Amino acid sequence: MLLDLLKKRCSLRDFSSKDIEKEKIDYILKAGRLSPSGGNEQPWKFGVITNKDLIKKISNLAYNQKWINDANFLIVLCTIIVSDKRGGRDIQRARFPEFKDSINNMDKKLYSKLNQEEHQTKIPGTHMVLAALEQGIGSTWISYFKVEEVSKLLNLDKNCIPSEIIAFGYPKKKIKPKKKKSLDDIVFYNEN
Ligand SMILES: Cc1cc2nc3c(=O)[nH]c(=O)nc-3n(C[C@H](O)[C@H](O)[C@H](O)COP(=O)(O)O)c2cc1C
Repeated sequence: MLLDLLKKRCSLRDFSSKDIEKEKIDYILKAGRLSPSGGNEQPWKFGVITNKDLIKKISNLAYNQKWINDANFLIVLCTIIVSDKRGGRDIQRARFPEFKDSINNMDKKLYSKLNQEEHQTKIPGTHMVLAALEQGIGSTWISYFKVEEVSKLLNLDKNCIPSEIIAFGYPKKKIKPKKKKSLDDIVFYNEN
C-alpha cells in the first residue's frame, strides 16, 4: 500500500558508505520520468551526481551542509524555464506583469526573484524519493543552496535552473519518521 510506504518516509542525513547499484538509480530516474507536468511539457533535466569531488563542491555551495558529503549520489532537478514550443512564458507574464519585458530573456537572478515559480520538479522529485524508499534507499531534499553557483559548476545552459537537489544513500541506522499535523489541522471541505 502506498500509505504504508509514505508512513516510513523521513529525511535521511546519516548515510552508510554502501554503494547503490546502477539498476536502482535507473529505477529512481524512471519513476521521475513518469511525472505529470503542465501541458506535458516535462520542463526538466535530471543531473545524477556520483562524482565525490562534485558532491563535496555542492555540499559547500549548499551553505556547507556537511552531511551532504556522505550521500552516495545526488540528483539535481533542473527546471527548463523557457519553452520555445509555447513561444514564451504566458503564465509568468500574467502573474508578474512588472517583469513582462524581461520574461522572454529571463535570467537566473530574475528567476530566483520570482521565487522559483516554476518548480514543477517537486513532482518528479517526490516520485524519486518514493521509488528510492521502496528499495531501502533514504534521501533528503535540499533547496538551501546557491543556485547560480551550482549552475556554473555543472555547466548548465542559461535556461536550465537547478531548482532542487536530492541526496540519496542507504541508511546507517533506522530512524523514526517525524510527527505530522493531523488531518483536522490541515484539511477543509468546500470552505475554510
Ligand atoms: C523542498 C524542500 C527543501 C528542503 N531543503 C532542505 C535543506 O536544504 N537541508 C536540509 O537539511 N533539509 C531540507 N529539507 C528537509 C526538511 O527539513 C524535512 O523534509 C522536514 O524537516 C520534515 O522532515 P521529514 O522529511 O523527515 O518528514 C527540505 C525539504 C523539502 C521538502
